[in-house]
Amino acid sequence: MHCPLTKDFVLRSLRHDDSAALGWYFDSLSPASKSRFAPHPLTQTTAQELCATEQSATLRLAIEMAGKIIGYFILEPEMSMHEAARYRQFGIALESGKDFLFAPSVADAFQNRGLASLAMPHLLQLARQSGARSLVLMGGTQATNARAIAFYEKFGFQRFGGYQTELFNHDMRHVLNHAC
Ligand SMILES: CC(C)(COP(=O)(O)OP(=O)(O)OC[C@H]1O[C@@H](n2cnc3c(N)ncnc32)[C@H](O)[C@@H]1OP(=O)(O)O)[C@@H](O)C(=O)NCCC(=O)NCCS
Repeated sequence: MHCPLTKDFVLRSLRHDDSAALGWYFDSLSPASKSRFAPHPLTQTTAQELCATEQSATLRLAIEMAGKIIGYFILEPEMSMHEAARYRQFGIALESGKDFLFAPSVADAFQNRGLASLAMPHLLQLARQSGARSLVLMGGTQATNARAIAFYEKFGFQRFGGYQTELFNHDMRHVLNHAC
Protein backbone atom coordinates (compact mmCIF):
# COMPACT_ATOMS: atom_id res chain seq x y z
CA MET A 1 0.00 0.00 0.00
CA HIS A 2 1.29 3.47 -0.87
CA CYS A 3 -1.25 6.30 -0.59
CA PRO A 4 -0.29 9.99 -0.62
CA LEU A 5 -2.45 11.73 2.02
CA THR A 6 -1.20 15.25 1.21
CA LYS A 7 1.89 16.47 -0.60
CA ASP A 8 3.92 15.91 2.60
CA PHE A 9 2.42 12.75 4.07
CA VAL A 10 2.24 9.22 2.66
CA LEU A 11 0.43 6.24 4.17
CA ARG A 12 2.32 3.09 3.27
CA SER A 13 3.04 -0.44 4.41
CA LEU A 14 5.81 -0.87 6.92
CA ARG A 15 9.04 -2.05 5.24
CA HIS A 16 12.03 -4.14 6.25
CA ASP A 17 14.25 -1.05 6.12
CA ASP A 18 12.02 0.88 8.56
CA SER A 19 13.49 -0.43 11.81
CA ALA A 20 15.50 2.73 12.65
CA ALA A 21 12.60 5.04 11.70
CA LEU A 22 10.07 2.94 13.62
CA GLY A 23 12.38 2.75 16.66
CA TRP A 24 12.74 6.53 16.52
CA TYR A 25 8.94 6.85 16.32
CA PHE A 26 8.39 4.62 19.35
CA ASP A 27 11.03 6.58 21.31
CA SER A 28 9.41 9.87 20.32
CA LEU A 29 5.97 9.03 21.75
CA SER A 30 5.17 10.85 24.98
CA PRO A 31 4.35 8.96 28.17
CA ALA A 32 0.72 10.08 27.70
CA SER A 33 0.56 8.56 24.20
CA LYS A 34 2.32 5.40 25.36
CA SER A 35 -0.19 5.04 28.18
CA ARG A 36 -2.96 4.98 25.55
CA PHE A 37 -1.27 3.05 22.76
CA ALA A 38 0.41 -0.13 23.94
CA PRO A 39 -0.19 -2.94 21.42
CA HIS A 40 3.31 -4.32 22.08
CA PRO A 41 6.52 -3.00 23.67
CA LEU A 42 7.38 0.37 22.11
CA THR A 43 11.13 -0.23 21.97
CA GLN A 44 13.88 -0.20 19.35
CA THR A 45 14.24 -3.98 19.78
CA THR A 46 10.56 -4.50 18.99
CA ALA A 47 10.87 -2.17 16.00
CA GLN A 48 13.75 -4.30 14.68
CA GLU A 49 11.80 -7.51 15.25
CA LEU A 50 8.67 -6.18 13.55
CA CYS A 51 10.60 -4.94 10.52
CA ALA A 52 12.60 -8.17 10.23
CA THR A 53 9.50 -10.39 10.18
CA GLU A 54 9.34 -12.15 6.83
CA GLN A 55 5.82 -13.53 6.73
CA SER A 56 2.96 -12.18 8.79
CA ALA A 57 -0.76 -11.78 8.32
CA THR A 58 -0.63 -8.64 10.47
CA LEU A 59 -0.95 -5.43 8.45
CA ARG A 60 1.33 -2.66 9.70
CA LEU A 61 1.09 0.79 8.12
CA ALA A 62 3.18 3.89 8.60
CA ILE A 63 2.59 7.55 7.83
CA GLU A 64 5.87 8.90 6.46
CA MET A 65 6.89 12.54 6.31
CA ALA A 66 10.29 13.51 4.90
CA GLY A 67 11.76 10.08 5.64
CA LYS A 68 10.40 9.96 9.19
CA ILE A 69 7.61 7.79 10.53
CA ILE A 70 5.03 9.98 12.23
CA GLY A 71 2.10 7.53 12.42
CA TYR A 72 1.79 3.77 12.92
CA PHE A 73 -1.35 1.63 12.53
CA ILE A 74 -1.98 -2.07 13.11
CA LEU A 75 -4.69 -4.21 11.49
CA GLU A 76 -4.49 -7.63 13.12
CA PRO A 77 -6.54 -10.50 11.67
CA GLU A 78 -5.69 -12.84 14.57
CA MET A 79 -8.46 -12.35 17.15
CA SER A 80 -7.44 -12.17 20.81
CA MET A 81 -9.18 -14.42 23.34
CA HIS A 82 -9.66 -11.35 25.58
CA GLU A 83 -11.65 -9.36 23.01
CA ALA A 84 -13.52 -12.50 21.92
CA ALA A 85 -14.61 -13.18 25.51
CA ARG A 86 -15.75 -9.60 26.12
CA TYR A 87 -17.81 -9.38 22.92
CA ARG A 88 -19.33 -12.83 23.55
CA GLN A 89 -21.25 -11.21 26.44
CA PHE A 90 -23.11 -9.19 23.77
CA GLY A 91 -23.80 -12.27 21.62
CA ILE A 92 -21.07 -11.29 19.15
CA ALA A 93 -18.81 -14.14 18.04
CA LEU A 94 -15.58 -12.54 16.87
CA GLU A 95 -13.53 -14.68 14.48
CA SER A 96 -9.92 -14.58 13.34
CA GLY A 97 -9.66 -13.59 9.70
CA LYS A 98 -13.06 -11.87 9.76
CA ASP A 99 -12.85 -9.45 12.69
CA PHE A 100 -9.61 -7.50 12.70
CA LEU A 101 -8.11 -5.83 15.75
CA PHE A 102 -7.27 -2.19 15.11
CA ALA A 103 -4.69 0.01 16.88
CA PRO A 104 -3.89 3.53 15.60
CA SER A 105 -1.27 6.05 16.68
CA VAL A 106 0.05 9.41 15.50
CA ALA A 107 3.16 11.21 16.77
CA ASP A 108 2.37 13.73 19.50
CA ALA A 109 3.33 16.77 17.42
CA PHE A 110 0.90 15.72 14.69
CA GLN A 111 -2.06 14.65 16.82
CA ASN A 112 -5.39 16.42 16.39
CA ARG A 113 -4.39 17.78 12.96
CA GLY A 114 -6.57 15.43 10.92
CA LEU A 115 -3.87 12.95 9.92
CA ALA A 116 -5.54 9.77 11.18
CA SER A 117 -8.79 11.00 9.63
CA LEU A 118 -7.02 11.28 6.27
CA ALA A 119 -5.57 7.78 6.67
CA MET A 120 -8.74 6.12 7.89
CA PRO A 121 -10.62 5.72 4.57
CA HIS A 122 -7.54 3.96 3.15
CA LEU A 123 -7.25 1.75 6.24
CA LEU A 124 -10.94 0.82 6.01
CA GLN A 125 -10.53 -0.02 2.32
CA LEU A 126 -7.44 -2.14 3.05
CA ALA A 127 -9.30 -3.99 5.81
CA ARG A 128 -12.23 -4.71 3.48
CA GLN A 129 -9.90 -5.88 0.71
CA SER A 130 -8.18 -8.16 3.22
CA GLY A 131 -11.47 -9.85 4.09
CA ALA A 132 -12.42 -8.03 7.28
CA ARG A 133 -16.10 -7.81 8.17
CA SER A 134 -15.38 -5.63 11.18
CA LEU A 135 -12.71 -3.72 13.05
CA VAL A 136 -12.49 -4.12 16.81
CA LEU A 137 -10.35 -1.84 18.97
CA MET A 138 -7.32 -3.71 20.29
CA GLY A 139 -7.78 -3.46 24.06
CA GLY A 140 -10.62 -0.96 23.68
CA THR A 141 -10.01 2.72 24.38
CA GLN A 142 -9.66 4.47 27.71
CA ALA A 143 -12.79 6.36 28.73
CA THR A 144 -10.59 9.42 29.33
CA ASN A 145 -9.32 9.38 25.71
CA ALA A 146 -11.93 11.81 24.39
CA ARG A 147 -10.05 12.48 21.15
CA ALA A 148 -9.76 8.82 20.27
CA ILE A 149 -13.43 8.17 21.09
CA ALA A 150 -14.51 11.13 18.91
CA PHE A 151 -12.26 9.85 16.12
CA TYR A 152 -13.67 6.31 16.29
CA GLU A 153 -17.28 7.49 16.45
CA LYS A 154 -16.69 9.75 13.46
CA PHE A 155 -15.75 6.65 11.46
CA GLY A 156 -18.71 4.58 12.60
CA PHE A 157 -17.36 2.63 15.57
CA GLN A 158 -19.97 1.75 18.19
CA ARG A 159 -19.48 1.03 21.88
CA PHE A 160 -19.98 -2.46 23.29
CA GLY A 161 -19.57 -2.16 27.04
CA GLY A 162 -16.03 -2.28 28.29
CA TYR A 163 -13.84 -3.33 31.16
CA GLN A 164 -12.16 -1.84 34.17
CA THR A 165 -8.43 -1.66 34.75
CA GLU A 166 -7.07 1.32 36.65
CA LEU A 167 -9.37 3.20 34.21
CA PHE A 168 -12.56 2.20 32.42
CA ASN A 169 -11.96 1.08 28.81
CA HIS A 170 -14.69 1.20 26.16
CA ASP A 171 -14.84 -1.67 23.70
CA MET A 172 -15.71 -0.33 20.24
CA ARG A 173 -16.39 -2.07 16.93
CA HIS A 174 -17.03 -0.93 13.38
CA VAL A 175 -18.94 -3.33 11.14
CA LEU A 176 -17.72 -3.10 7.54
CA ASN A 177 -19.81 -5.84 6.04
CA HIS A 178 -23.12 -6.86 7.62
CA ALA A 179 -23.54 -9.75 5.19
CA CYS A 180 -20.90 -12.08 6.67
C1 LIG B 1 -6.23 8.83 18.65
C2 LIG B 1 -5.36 9.26 17.44
C3 LIG B 1 -4.89 8.00 16.71
C4 LIG B 1 -6.26 10.09 16.50
O1 LIG B 1 -5.44 10.55 15.45
P1 LIG B 1 -5.43 12.11 15.08
O2 LIG B 1 -4.67 12.28 13.83
O3 LIG B 1 -4.97 12.87 16.29
O4 LIG B 1 -7.00 12.37 14.88
P2 LIG B 1 -7.71 13.45 13.95
O5 LIG B 1 -7.02 14.76 14.14
O6 LIG B 1 -7.81 12.92 12.57
O7 LIG B 1 -9.18 13.46 14.56
C5 LIG B 1 -9.40 13.77 15.91
C6 LIG B 1 -10.86 14.13 16.09
O8 LIG B 1 -11.14 14.19 17.50
C7 LIG B 1 -11.73 15.46 17.81
N1 LIG B 1 -11.31 15.79 19.15
C8 LIG B 1 -10.08 16.14 19.57
N2 LIG B 1 -10.08 16.33 20.91
C9 LIG B 1 -11.33 16.08 21.33
C10 LIG B 1 -11.96 16.10 22.60
N3 LIG B 1 -11.27 16.41 23.72
N4 LIG B 1 -13.28 15.80 22.68
C11 LIG B 1 -13.97 15.46 21.58
N5 LIG B 1 -13.42 15.42 20.32
C12 LIG B 1 -12.13 15.73 20.22
C13 LIG B 1 -11.19 16.38 16.76
O9 LIG B 1 -12.00 17.52 16.63
C14 LIG B 1 -11.24 15.48 15.53
O10 LIG B 1 -12.55 15.34 15.02
P3 LIG B 1 -13.04 16.21 13.73
O11 LIG B 1 -12.16 15.83 12.59
O12 LIG B 1 -14.46 15.77 13.55
O13 LIG B 1 -12.88 17.65 14.12
C15 LIG B 1 -4.15 10.12 17.89
O14 LIG B 1 -4.60 11.32 18.50
C16 LIG B 1 -3.19 9.39 18.83
O15 LIG B 1 -2.28 8.72 18.38
N6 LIG B 1 -3.37 9.55 20.17
C17 LIG B 1 -2.45 8.93 21.14
C18 LIG B 1 -2.49 7.41 21.09
C19 LIG B 1 -3.92 6.90 21.15
O16 LIG B 1 -4.73 7.39 21.93
N7 LIG B 1 -4.22 5.87 20.34
C20 LIG B 1 -5.53 5.23 20.35
C21 LIG B 1 -5.61 4.24 21.43
S1 LIG B 1 -7.26 3.59 21.61
